[in-house]
Amino acid sequence: MNPGERSTDTANVRVLAIAGSLRRDSFNRRLLDAVVPLASHGMSIDVYENLDAVPLFNEDLETPRAPPGVEHLRAAVAVADGLLIATPEYNQALPGVVKNFVDWLSRGEVSVLEGKPTAILGVTPGNWGTRLAQASLRHTLTACGALVMPAPQIYLRHAAQLFDQQRLVDSRARESLAEYAKSFERWIRFTCQPIERKIA
Ligand code: FNR
Repeated sequence: MNPGERSTDTANVRVLAIAGSLRRDSFNRRLLDAVVPLASHGMSIDVYENLDAVPLFNEDLETPRAPPGVEHLRAAVAVADGLLIATPEYNQALPGVVKNFVDWLSRGEVSVLEGKPTAILGVTPGNWGTRLAQASLRHTLTACGALVMPAPQIYLRHAAQLFDQQRLVDSRARESLAEYAKSFERWIRFTCQPIERKIA
């Protein structure tokens, strides 16, 4: 193992989860709150709380140092074993809030997205389960060198029927989410293995 590298063979994997909505009652934020206790034993998930401190991307702000809100987010992503993003869909694509923080993360001396095991999910009150938002986010993250989990994919729709005031109460959605979290843990462990072991 290289210096500074973590082995995820037996260790707990630590995931940073980011909701791509700043709305107080965001369904996507509540989705992440639901996934935290559903995570398997080998994985812990922390939901990022400071996304509203990330300014609109502007190359003029990159020097001499990125703004504190950006540095804070980059540091949180850098130390996480995996990144989980819950994205809303706006106008059949990813929202500006999500594209904005991804653009910031893709910059800096070393991009913290390069080689980062990443998973995408999303929920909408509409019919199509954030399919197009997830597709556009997957495209962008792949361009940034993130290792986006190819499958399973999870598209949650009719949000108002899945949640009560605060919690995800729909049992099928909860089961899918637990399975999804388990798959992500496997994806992180798989992508962290040295190449020789992956192809052995
Ligand atoms: C939306 N919404 C939406 N939903 C969808 O399924 N497909 C879409 O293309 C859009 N487009 C769209 C554009 C804009 C500008 C807004 C504000 C909203 C509805 C959206 O899914 C809904 O507001 C969600 O509740 C947003 O996610 P959070 O904030 O609840 O996490």
